This record gives sequence, C-alpha cells and structure tokens, in this order.
Amino acid sequence: MNRVKDKVCLVTGAARGLGLAAVQALLAEGAKVMLTDRDSATGETEAARLRSEGHDACFMPQDVTEEGQWTEVLDAVIKAWGRIDVVVNNAGVATLSDVEATRLAQWKSTLAVNLDGVFLGTQAAIARMKAGGGSIVNIASIEGLIGEPLIPAYNASKGGVRLFSKSAAIHCARAGYGIRVNCVCPGFAETQMVAAAVATLPPDQAQAFVERTLARIPLGRFARPDEIASAVLFLASDESSYVTGSDLVVDGGMTA
Ligand SMILES: NC(=O)c1ccc[n+]([C@@H]2O[C@H](COP(=O)([O-])OP(=O)(O)OC[C@H]3O[C@@H](n4cnc5c(N)ncnc54)[C@H](O)[C@@H]3O)[C@@H](O)[C@H]2O)c1
Repeated sequence: MNRVKDKVCLVTGAARGLGLAAVQALLAEGAKVMLTDRDSATGETEAARLRSEGHDACFMPQDVTEEGQWTEVLDAVIKAWGRIDVVVNNAGVATLSDVEATRLAQWKSTLAVNLDGVFLGTQAAIARMKAGGGSIVNIASIEGLIGEPLIPAYNASKGGVRLFSKSAAIHCARAGYGIRVNCVCPGFAETQMVAAAVATLPPDQAQAFVERTLARIPLGRFARPDEIASAVLFLASDESSYVTGSDLVVDGGMTA
C-alpha cells in the first residue's frame, strides 16, 4: 500500500493505456498523481473517476512537444503539492510504414512526441528535482533495442530515448542531484496503440502480423498494462535506489 507513499508524481499520456495503468499503480501505493494528456476529455474523466475512488489525482491538458506547457504543468504540480518526486514520460505515438514509404513529416512528428517530448520532460524535471532528488522514468520500448521493418521512425525514437536517458542519468548522478533516470522497455502490450496500428493493415496482413508476433514471444501472449505499470512503480519507488541509467525490459522474453 505504501511503496510510493506521498510521492508527488506526474505521468504524461495518462488518459489511457500504459500511462493510465502507471497512474493507477502509483495511486494504489500512496502517491499523489498529476495526469496529463492531449486528450483532455478522457483525461478529465479518468482523473474524476480516480478521485471518486478516494485517490489524490488531478488532470491537466498537455502536449508534451510544447516546451512552455512543461513549465505550466510542473508549476501547477508544485503549487498543488509543494514538490515533484517522480516524472513518467509515457506519451507516445506509432504509425506503421516502412522506410521507403515513410514521409519526412511522419518521421518528424513521431520523433517530436516520442523523443523531443522525453527530452523536454526530463530537462524540466531535472530543473525542479535537483535540490531534493527524484526519479525520472522514460517509457522506451523493445523497439528501441531491435529493429522492426514497419516502424523505422518509432525504432529511431525509442533507441534515442534509451541512450538519451543514460546520458541524463550519468549527468545527474555525477552532479550529486539524487535524481535517477531509467527506462522501461515494454514489449507488446494490450493497448489502443497496438490495436490501432494493427487495424491500419489489411485484415489478412493484420492477422498474420499478430500471429507472427505472438510466435516470437516465449510467454505466448501480449502484456497486460498493469504488468508494465509494475516496472514503472519499481523505478519510481525507493526500492530501486541503486538503479540508474538502466533499461528494464518487460517483454515476455521476446528479446531474450
Ligand atoms: N502498447 C505497447 O505495446 C507499447 C510497447 C512499448 C512501448 N510502448 C510505449 O508506451 C507508451 C504508452 O503507449 P500506449 O500503448 O499506452 O499508447 P496509447 O496510444 O494507448 O496511449 C498514448 C497516450 O498518449 C497520449 N499522447 C499522444 N501524443 C501526445 C502528446 N503529444 N502529448 C500528450 N499526450 C500525448 C494519447 O492521447 C494517449 O492517451 C508510449 O510511449 C509507447 O510508445 C507501448
């Protein structure tokens, strides 16, 4: 119940999927959580539901690619709760198209959310955490470890998140800030991101893609969002006090 008691947390992309699951895991262990998302309607609804269940949760609209909105959101968190202990940079996007079909605009928009957003969130968090320490958890992917021919921009963004996070982790450790920076690398999880991406394929190809992917996962199934949230919770909590600059792979053995 108290693994992150009274820790003040911010989770981006928190209206649904892995972000919402991380919020629920943190709240269940005693945290106070600011949810942000560019989908205001769903985010507001989820935050209201969590408050009605007795949790300390708020929502603010945020586009993680907008630098100024990071200031607004973190200022609001500090005004509400006095400090920030944990930032989970979770917001992300994915579209399917191979390297030959990918347009520059699509490449740039993927990197803007998945990589620029994580850079801005990490930088803004460090500025506000360096006096008192904290934990930054960046959601990368196994797609930052291995290549997948249908998602070159996503692969590039997630590989970037992993190495950027290591650089920030070393900087914060050497500076003595007491800030840890780590990545979670989920494998395939049951969320709208995967369902929506698969739905863009013709039905026969979609079926083949799912079957091919499941055959590559030793545990034989996709992850439940709460199974990824457990890894976020561990990295957010003081149980991981000696863990920084690491990638926590949660993929049912897919990359083993
Ligand atoms: N689902 C998977 O299999 C899987 C695997 C590995 C990594 N991931 C990563 O986990 C994270 C969450 O994925 P998910 O599956 O829950 O996706 P999802 O599409 O279900 O949810 C993503 C959320 O991010 C929000 N978002 C998108 N762009 C945003 C922006 N610019 N600013 C603020 N919010 C924005 C969306 O509105 C949405 O609520 C992503 O970074 C994703 O790349 C997912």
